[in-house]
Amino acid sequence: MRGSGPLNGELHVGGAKNSALKLMAASLLAEGSTRLVNVPDITDVAIMTELLEAMGVEIQRTGHSVDINVPDEIDPIAPYSLVERMRASIVVLGPLLARIGRARVAMPGGDDFGSRPIDMHLQGLEQLGARFSHEHGDINGEADRLVGAEVFLEFPSVGATENLLMASVLAEGVTIIENAAREPEITDLANFLSEMGGRIEGVGTSRLRIEGVDKLTPITYTVIPDRVEAATYLSALAVCGGQLRLEGARVDHMEMLLRKLEEMGMILEEDDSGLQARVLGRLKAVDVSTLPYPGLATDYKPFLVAALTVSDGAGMVTENIFAGRFRYIDELVRMGAEIRAEGRHAVVRGVKRLSGAPVRAHDIRAGAALVVAGLAADGETAISNAHHVDRGYEDLAGKLSSVGAQVSRT
Ligand code: EPU
Repeated sequence: MRGSGPLNGELHVGGAKNSALKLMAASLLAEGSTRLVNVPDITDVAIMTELLEAMGVEIQRTGHSVDINVPDEIDPIAPYSLVERMRASIVVLGPLLARIGRARVAMPGGDDFGSRPIDMHLQGLEQLGARFSHEHGDINGEADRLVGAEVFLEFPSVGATENLLMASVLAEGVTIIENAAREPEITDLANFLSEMGGRIEGVGTSRLRIEGVDKLTPITYTVIPDRVEAATYLSALAVCGGQLRLEGARVDHMEMLLRKLEEMGMILEEDDSGLQARVLGRLKAVDVSTLPYPGLATDYKPFLVAALTVSDGAGMVTENIFAGRFRYIDELVRMGAEIRAEGRHAVVRGVKRLSGAPVRAHDIRAGAALVVAGLAADGETAISNAHHVDRGYEDLAGKLSSVGAQVSRT
């Protein structure tokens, strides 16, 4: 890609990766055919498809709709070959234990964010009556019917909240999840489960009350738009200038991000079915600190750092969710960014332009941040390991080039 700008036009925001993956796993809870609409065509969804198919589920994709036909008998195994490629595979654990009382799921290892334990998932499920043993790198889970309990999460973990929510909808009696994560994707999962017949109160709050039912019914359901994809486009606009309309963007899911962008000088306006954004000159630097929702999402941070590298002034960036989520900074420095990072903190001092260079993507969002940085760089930037970007974005290069960015996929 090459330095670009200004951008001009409209982009459609696709379905949320981090919701679609969980809704696919949740489909295991009901025998029969569930249809998910607005499912992005990305590698992570293909991996979840492979995982469910290996369990005996039939899956058919037509455009952005996915039909998931869950048989009575499921082979409850998530092998390392798939879990290694996608950590989110761990969310099949809750549904499998709830539906058939057995699961064998490979332990996810560490990744580019550092160590990522799943202790809260396991402790919570144990409180509902599941028993776990570890063998040859796998977790073997067993349960007679799960029984509701009060679970207090030490931290509002997205994955642990989801696993517990999916397990407790079919448990006997009442489950309370205290200090639950409140991300829009969790609300989407709770709405999906409620439409299937689950009884959930407190949706959108940090206290979820779930009254177990005996059976759920398959449904047709539309996945919410991807707030992180929308944030990626806004960050590209931040460095290129111009104006964009984001069709389908949900302003109510991105309030903290939009406040930050306004503080930087972006002009934003919600309309009937999306968001209009304009950038007239160089944006101002701001401080960024990640927090669980409704705080500023850790997933936005790499693009915000990319935007700060060419903003006016200096910004302090603090990562409070994943201690190791700063690896892409070395790549940005290769492009001439002035960043000093230590522990959870980084100070980014804006320069006028970056300088295009060969760089490497370490994960999905880091890869997308390098795309944003490449648009603010003189000359050519070539990103290796770009397959990471395909895990979470459907044709990022094609979409950005349709609004004037000079970016292509080779
Ligand atoms: N944690 C524990 N123990 C646990 C679970 C989590 O210590 O049992 C810690 C983690 O190590 C981390 C923090 O709690 O420090 C938060 O982790 P969380 O469980 O909330 O994250 P996750 O469910 O593993 C999801 C998204 C991530 C997103 C985070 C935070 C999916 C598939 N992944 O991960 O998205 O960054 O929530 O919002 O939903 C991405 O899309 O690129 C991505 C990484």
